[in-house]
Amino acid sequence: MTLPYRKKLIEVALPLKAINEASAREKSIRHGHPSTLHLWWARRPLAACRAVLFSSLVDDPDSDPAYRKSDGSVDEDRAGIKRAELFNLIEELVQWDNSNNPRVINAARAEIARCVASQKIELGEFQKDTIIFGHDKGQAHPNGPVSGEGVTAWEVLLMKARPQVVNAFLAEYAPPVLDPFCGGGSIPLEAQRLGLRPYASDLNPVPVLITKALIEIPPKFAGRPPVNPEWQSKSEAEKAATVWQGAHGLAEDVRYYGQWMRDEAEKRIGHLYPKVKISDEMTKDRPDLKEYVGQDLTVIAWLWARTVASPNPACRGAHVPLVRSFWLSTKKGKEAYVRPILNRSTNTCRFEVRAGPPTAGFDPKKGTVARTGATCLLTGSPVSFDHIRTEGKAGRLGAQLMAVVAEGNRGRVYLPPRAEDEIITAQAKPHNVPDTSLPEQALGFRVQLYGMTKHRDLFTSRQLVALTAFSDLVGETRCRALDDAAKAGVPNEGPGPIPYADSIATYIGLCASKASAFHCSLGRWRPNEGKSAPAFGRQTVSMVWDYAEVNPFAGAGGDLSGIVDGTVRTLLGLPAQPLGACSQLDSAASLPEVLLPVVSTDPPYYDNIGYADLSDFFYIWLRRALAGVHPQLFATLLTPKAQELIAIPSRHNGNKERAREFFEGGLAQAFAHVRDVQNPNYPLTVYYAFKQAEEDEDDEDESSVATTSVASTGWETMLASLCHSGFSVTGTWPVRTEGVSRMRSMGSNALASSIVLVTRARAHDAPLATRKQFMTALRRELPEALKNLQHGNIAPVDLAQAAIGPGMAVFTRYSKVVESDGKSMTVRTALGIINQVLDEVLSEQEGDFDPDTRWALAWFEQYGTSEGPYGVAETLSKAKNTAIKGLEEAGIVEAGKGKVQLLGRTDLHADWNPATDKRITVWETTQHLIRTLETKGEAEAAALLNKLGGIGEIARELAYRLYSICERKKWADEALAYNGLVISWPELSKLALSQRNRQPTIQQDLF
Ligand SMILES: C[S@@+](CC[C@H](N)C(=O)[O-])C[C@H]1O[C@@H](n2cnc3c(N)ncnc32)[C@H](O)[C@@H]1O
Repeated sequence: MTLPYRKKLIEVALPLKAINEASAREKSIRHGHPSTLHLWWARRPLAACRAVLFSSLVDDPDSDPAYRKSDGSVDEDRAGIKRAELFNLIEELVQWDNSNNPRVINAARAEIARCVASQKIELGEFQKDTIIFGHDKGQAHPNGPVSGEGVTAWEVLLMKARPQVVNAFLAEYAPPVLDPFCGGGSIPLEAQRLGLRPYASDLNPVPVLITKALIEIPPKFAGRPPVNPEWQSKSEAEKAATVWQGAHGLAEDVRYYGQWMRDEAEKRIGHLYPKVKISDEMTKDRPDLKEYVGQDLTVIAWLWARTVASPNPACRGAHVPLVRSFWLSTKKGKEAYVRPILNRSTNTCRFEVRAGPPTAGFDPKKGTVARTGATCLLTGSPVSFDHIRTEGKAGRLGAQLMAVVAEGNRGRVYLPPRAEDEIITAQAKPHNVPDTSLPEQALGFRVQLYGMTKHRDLFTSRQLVALTAFSDLVGETRCRALDDAAKAGVPNEGPGPIPYADSIATYIGLCASKASAFHCSLGRWRPNEGKSAPAFGRQTVSMVWDYAEVNPFAGAGGDLSGIVDGTVRTLLGLPAQPLGACSQLDSAASLPEVLLPVVSTDPPYYDNIGYADLSDFFYIWLRRALAGVHPQLFATLLTPKAQELIAIPSRHNGNKERAREFFEGGLAQAFAHVRDVQNPNYPLTVYYAFKQAEEDEDDEDESSVATTSVASTGWETMLASLCHSGFSVTGTWPVRTEGVSRMRSMGSNALASSIVLVTRARAHDAPLATRKQFMTALRRELPEALKNLQHGNIAPVDLAQAAIGPGMAVFTRYSKVVESDGKSMTVRTALGIINQVLDEVLSEQEGDFDPDTRWALAWFEQYGTSEGPYGVAETLSKAKNTAIKGLEEAGIVEAGKGKVQLLGRTDLHADWNPATDKRITVWETTQHLIRTLETKGEAEAAALLNKLGGIGEIARELAYRLYSICERKKWADEALAYNGLVISWPELSKLALSQRNRQPTIQQDLF
C-alpha cells in the first residue's frame, strides 16, 4: 500500500515564541546542562532540538484521520483544538525544568506513539486489536481493541497505554533518528529523551566521543548500582533499599573515581601550586591583608603578562610587559589593580598590587597593548605587532608575573608577585608531551604569527606537567574501576567489567580534556567576576597577552573537583533510555546503516567554524588518555581533516573557488545520500546557522578576522543545495537564542541565530512551471498560509522568515521554474518574488481597516510621526477616501501652518474612551493598546481590549502590518512595540476573558 502523505505539525505551525524564549533562556543554564560535559562549538539549544523533533513526528491535526468528519473533510474546529493542545504541550516540553519531568515527557512520547500507531493502522500494518507485545504479538486480542492491559495498537492510538508500554512501543515501532553531523550531540540526545532510538555520526572523534558519553554509554548501565569501594562498604540493607535510576549509579562512580584522580594528581604535582604565607611586611600599604597575617592562603591563580624586548634602543633590549588591562577586580567596593613601577636606571618594571579604587592619574583600563599595536612602558615609544611577531618567531617572548590571586575569607585576595613563584614555575619539567604541530594556516588561528607552532606552545610548563599528569591518571583510574567492578561482581556477559571501566575512564578522560581549556595560556582573568575564563570564548586561537594560570586544586574555574562535579550533574540529568543508541565516526558521505531513519541535522557551514583544527586542542589530550579505550577513534595523530566539509582555501592550495566547490559539492552529496535512506513518511529537518557577529572589543590583534565570509549568500546557497539534491522545502522557522530586544539591526535574518528548514523529498516526476504559474500559485496559497501563521500568533519579527517556508514550498514543488529565456529561476529570484507576494498579501489585509487607518498607514510609511506637507496629506486622503478634517476629528492628526503630523501613541489623548469616541480608528486603538500595555501592564490593556469589542482583533492585524513597515525602515524601537503587542496577545485575550467572566458576579454583588 502506498504511504499516504501526512503533514507533520512542523510543516504547518509551531509555537515559535515559546521555543525561542526557552532557547534563549537555556544559554544561561550551566549546572547540569549537557553542553557543560565538554566544549563543542556552536551547539544548538536543546529546547529547539526537542521541539523540532517532536513536531516532525506528530501529525498536524489537519492530516490526521482522527480529525476528519464522516465525509472525509477536515473537522476544522476539532483540528484547531488539537493543534492548540499540541502547542501547549510543546510550550511545556521546551522548558529546561521539564527536561526530566515524567508527566511532560511521557505526554510527548504518548503523542508520538499515537501518531505512529495511527499511521500503521491506516496502512493496514496493524489491526486495531493487534497485540503488539508479548508472545501473542501479532495476534488479535480476545477482548478486542481495548484489552484493558494496554497492549493493542488501538490503546496506543487512544493514548491509554501505560508509559512503559509507550516506551517499548516507540523502541520497536517508531522510526530511529539519524544525525550525520552530530557535533556535541544535541539532536540525538533530544531524540533519546523523546523515546526514539538515536544514531549519531560525525567525522571528528571529539564530538563522537562527547555524543557517546551523552547517549550511548548511560543506557548501557542504566539502573545499575555503583561499584566503588565506598558504596560496596555500605550495609547490605542499605544497598538493597537503594534504587539506582537511569545513569545515577554510573554518575556516583564518576564522582568517586573523579575525586580519586583529583586527589592523586594533587599528591603528585600539588607542590607546584604552593600557598602564600601573609607576612607583616606584606601589610604595609595593604591594611586589607592584616587579618591574614601568619596564614597560608591557597592560590587560585597566577596572573602573567607576556613580555617583549623594547624596540627603543634607549632600553638596551630590556623586556617590557604586554598588558591589556591592569584591573584585577572591578567589583564595587572590592577594587584591586596592578600598578607598574618603573626603574629607568635599570630599565626594569616591577608590579605592585593595590586594593581600592585607583589613584588619580592612573587608569588600570589602559594597558600597554591596543588593537593597533603596543607601547613600551619604559619609554612610551610604539611597539609594532610586526616587531612582536619577529621576536616571537625567534623564540624571544618572555613572561612576567603581575599578581597572585588567593582565596580569602570573603572572596579573592590580590597579592604582589613573589620571586618564589617564578622559581617554582621554572621547576616544572613536563615529560612526554604531545609533539603535534598547529596548522600553518587555519580559521581563527593567529598564534602562529608569534612563533607558536606546536600545540604544546599554548601551555606553560606547569600546565603541561598538570595536563600530562591528568591524562596519565585516566588510565590508572580505569584500572582501579576495573578491579572494583570485578570485585563488585559485575557479570562478564553483557556490558561487563571491562566496558564499565572503559566508560568510567571515558568520563574522567573528558574531564581531563575539558580542564585543558582552563589550563592553557589562552585563558584570561575576568576582573568583573574574580575568576579566569577558559580558552575559546570565541571560536579562535588568538594571542592572549596577559593570561591566568589557575590552580587545578582550588575553586575558581578549572579546578578538577568542579569539573568532575559538573560531569556528575550532567549524567544525573541524562535520559539514559535503554533503547540502543549509537555514536560513530563516519563521514556524512557514508551514513551509518540505519533502516528508514528520520533525519534531523545541523551541518557545518562554509567557513563558519574550523571544527577540526580547533578540536585538535582537545584531541591531543583525549588521545593520550583514551587511545587504549577507544582505539578506533584515536587512530590518527590529529583529527581527520581531508573530508571535513569546510570552505577554507588553505586546504586547496589557497584556491577560494575550489574551497567553495568542495564544500558545496560535499554538502549536496550528503543531502542526496540522506534523500536515498530517509524515511519518506517524515520530513528532513536541517538547521542553517548564521555566522555569529564577532565581538571585536576583546580582540587584541587587529588582524584576527575570519577570512572568506559568505554570510549574505549562505542562506540562498543552503536552499539551493537542498533543492538540487531533490528536496522541496516546506518550512523555514527562525530559531533565536538572542532576546528580540538585543537585536543589532532589523531584518528577520539578522535576528535569528539559525533557521530550521523543513524539507520533503520531491517526486522524481515533479512538473515544470513558468514564472507566471509560480506566481499564480503563490498568490493563491500564501494568504491561507499567512493566516495560519498569524492564527498561531507568530511574532511579527518571525513572520517574514516563516512565510518563506510556504513560499519555498510552492517554488520547490516544481522540478524547475522556467524563466522566459528558458533558464531556470534561481533561488535568489524566487526569494525576491516570495517577499513581493508576501507584501501584497499583507497589503490586502488592509481591506479590514477603516479609511482613516489606511491613510495613517500610508502616511506613517512615508513620514512616521514627523510633520509632512499638507498638500501631500490632502492628496493621500483623497486616495484613501477620507479627509484631513475627518482625520483631525478622529483625533489622530494635527494640521496647521501647511503641515500635517500623524499622532503617535504618546501624543494621543491619555483619557481616551472608545465608548464615547464618535470616529474610532484601528490606528488609535492599536496605539492606545500599546501605550496601556507599556505603561499600565497587561491587566489594564486587557480591560481596554474588552471595551474595544471586535475592533481589538483588527488592531493585532495592524500591528503585523506596522511591524513590517518599521522593519523595512529599520525603526527598531517602534518595531519592538508592535512585536510586543502581538506576542502579548494570547495573555491579553485570556485576561480579557476572565475579566468578562467576573463582570456579572461583581454586578450581582452590587445588588
Ligand atoms: C554545526 S556542527 C553540529 C553541531 C551540533 N548540532 C551540536 O548541537 O553540537 C557540524 C558538525 O559537522 C561535522 N562535520 C564536518 N564535516 C563533516 C563530514 N564530512 N562528515 C560528517 N561530519 C562532518 C563537524 O565536525 C561538526 O561537528
